[in-house]
Amino acid sequence: MRIIIAKDYNDMSKKAANMVAAQILLKPNSVLGLATGSTPVMTYKYLIKLFQDETISFCHVVTVNLDEYIGLSKEHPNSYHFFMQDIFFNHVDIKLENIYIPDGMAMDLETECIEYENKIQKNKGIDLQILGIGSNGHIGFNEPDLKFEGITHCINLDDETIKANARFFEKEEEVPRRAITMGVKTIMNARKIILLANGSEKAKTVFNAIHGKIDPALPASILQLHPDVTFILDREAAYYIN
Ligand code: F6R
Repeated sequence: MRIIIAKDYNDMSKKAANMVAAQILLKPNSVLGLATGSTPVMTYKYLIKLFQDETISFCHVVTVNLDEYIGLSKEHPNSYHFFMQDIFFNHVDIKLENIYIPDGMAMDLETECIEYENKIQKNKGIDLQILGIGSNGHIGFNEPDLKFEGITHCINLDDETIKANARFFEKEEEVPRRAITMGVKTIMNARKIILLANGSEKAKTVFNAIHGKIDPALPASILQLHPDVTFILDREAAYYIN
């Protein structure tokens, strides 16, 4: 495991974007695993800048997103489809057919999960996965105490996650209670992983993920066993490290 402590959120984002850019330059048809939430927003801004500078192109890149809420249409402003288009895809040259995000409106959600996992496998797995971390230690929407060996599946969101994500909605009641997420096993099969965390509210969780017991009660703890994982933290999130 590599731990990089960045000066601040901006520096964390720049370092993450540079690692993604290196991945694309070395393998233009990379499969990138992408995350939503507030943590990677600036990373996407830096990637857009690198695209505008003509340093990188996304024209051969394939993306697979970690998760999507069940019951929100692609057009819903709080869906992860909308988020990704708005924050990132609309601003780079990625081909629409190379973008994969689980469909939270699928009639048959079980089949959607199986097909999503198959799409990842058909693209020969994920080259570089970007992760955030929930304050309860979730990665993707793999909440504490789910089995580590899960692949893409439907989950019930924890109360803590619902509360944390309520900031994106008008009312807490509007936050969907269920989601589709890649499983921990899907994530662990990525060849390279970058986990981003900023802010003091993530500090204890980050410390436990890095130094605590490897336990499904803290899903991110399994990353200790990944052969190529880099945590990029701002100083606040790294408060208990060292
Ligand atoms: C998002 C995702 C989640 C978030 C996590 C942190 O696709 O899979 O695991 O990364 O909830 O969210 P933020 O960045 O909003 O603190």
